[in-house]
Amino acid sequence: MAELNTKPTKKREIFSTGLAVFFATLGSAVGLGNIWKFPYVVGSNGGGAFLLIYFICVIFVGIPVMVCELYIGRKTRNNAVGTFKKLKPGSAWKGIGGMGVVTAFLIMFFYSDVSGWVYSYVFKSITGQLNGVTPDIAKAVFEKTSSGLTLPILWQGIVFIVVAAILIAGVKNGIERITKTLLPILFILIIICNIRAFTLSGAGDGLKFLYSVDFTKVNGGVILAALGLAFFKLSLGMGTMITYGSYFTEDNNLLHTPLKVALSDIAVSLLAGMAIFPVVFTFKMEPSSGPGLLFTTIPLVFSKLPLGNLLLVFFFILTAIAATTAMISLVEVPVAYFSEEKGMKRTNAVIFTVIIMFVIGTLATLSVNPSSFVGNIQILGYGFFDLFDKVSSNILMPIGGLLTAIFIGYFIRKDDLKNELMNNGTLSNTVKFDLFYFIMRYISPILLIIVFLSGLGIIKL
Ligand code: PFF
Repeated sequence: MAELNTKPTKKREIFSTGLAVFFATLGSAVGLGNIWKFPYVVGSNGGGAFLLIYFICVIFVGIPVMVCELYIGRKTRNNAVGTFKKLKPGSAWKGIGGMGVVTAFLIMFFYSDVSGWVYSYVFKSITGQLNGVTPDIAKAVFEKTSSGLTLPILWQGIVFIVVAAILIAGVKNGIERITKTLLPILFILIIICNIRAFTLSGAGDGLKFLYSVDFTKVNGGVILAALGLAFFKLSLGMGTMITYGSYFTEDNNLLHTPLKVALSDIAVSLLAGMAIFPVVFTFKMEPSSGPGLLFTTIPLVFSKLPLGNLLLVFFFILTAIAATTAMISLVEVPVAYFSEEKGMKRTNAVIFTVIIMFVIGTLATLSVNPSSFVGNIQILGYGFFDLFDKVSSNILMPIGGLLTAIFIGYFIRKDDLKNELMNNGTLSNTVKFDLFYFIMRYISPILLIIVFLSGLGIIKL
């Protein structure tokens, strides 16, 4: 079979260096998930035991699927739909890319809502509105932020303006520049928060919560949670890594980058946990997850510390950075699609995409408010916020990942895949390739089918 001419017909931007590739990809992985989800899930599901299981999920599912997606993107240098059209012209495989575009929209509908709350907390912490809050005030502030009518929508709009401005600047001047500047700042801020947390009396308890190894808490449900988390954390199954892969440099090692990104992402999550839980335990609060932890407990406990108000500003800025770099990777999926498949100018594609995301995203925002009309609408038993979350995380992302692994494992010639992953013979890690190929072909799909069926409630572990 003749080698397909899969390289681009139109001039496209790519990232300029390996470091830029790394920061952009890590920027996608690091997001709200690291701050409000991962640390708590680790702590309450067996600490070190959960971490071990999470590592296994990353190695057997996360990294192999990421390698596949990056391969698809870089090989064809196209958007999530165009890649499949180039690799298998006239086939239905482009549906995977189409699903990715839809999933990016669904995730952004609710992710932008929570990011709006984070942005508003940056403002509140800087202007001193969170100084010395009591439990009741902390709760009331959060309620006003999340379930008012105008404020949450206003902040969500600001989030979209920021994301649009970055993306309009382009792949190099926007995505690359922002991630290369902001991620190091995020690391510095998180380490400052860690140093403060380590000097507290509850540091030991906080670390124990995170790291003590307890295998009695591990059951089927915990393993599934680890698998689902690995997928969401690494931004898989929805075209993001395909789209970013299409901007990778030719000499990037597609087997190493996912490993480096996955390890750095875990490091950010653990640093976040080590910044949060010592403070929570010092003030004898219950560790909780989700909105409760981020928007109520953290302002409450941080503001009790000497220099706590400054720390709070740092903490919300770093959370806003994480949310923003993840969102630009999500929005880039439809932007690349509309500009390449539908012939839109990049600026128009960005504006078009964020307007749709904003308009439908307000449904998610308003659904959190029980007194609004939208707050009372239920579809399949869920309000809009939860519906967008469940359909994307439990159904579309695992199917997207599964089909991608099957596509690469069974419908792409092994030689072509190997050649691209070995950078046309410049790399020689054949053993690593063989290991990856085996896992991706035989193990990842089975694990993904299990996650998917259990996400639908068809099997119970
Ligand atoms: N990885 C991000 C997080 O952990 O918050 C979420 C995310 C970003 C999911 C981008 C999917 C995606 F394409």
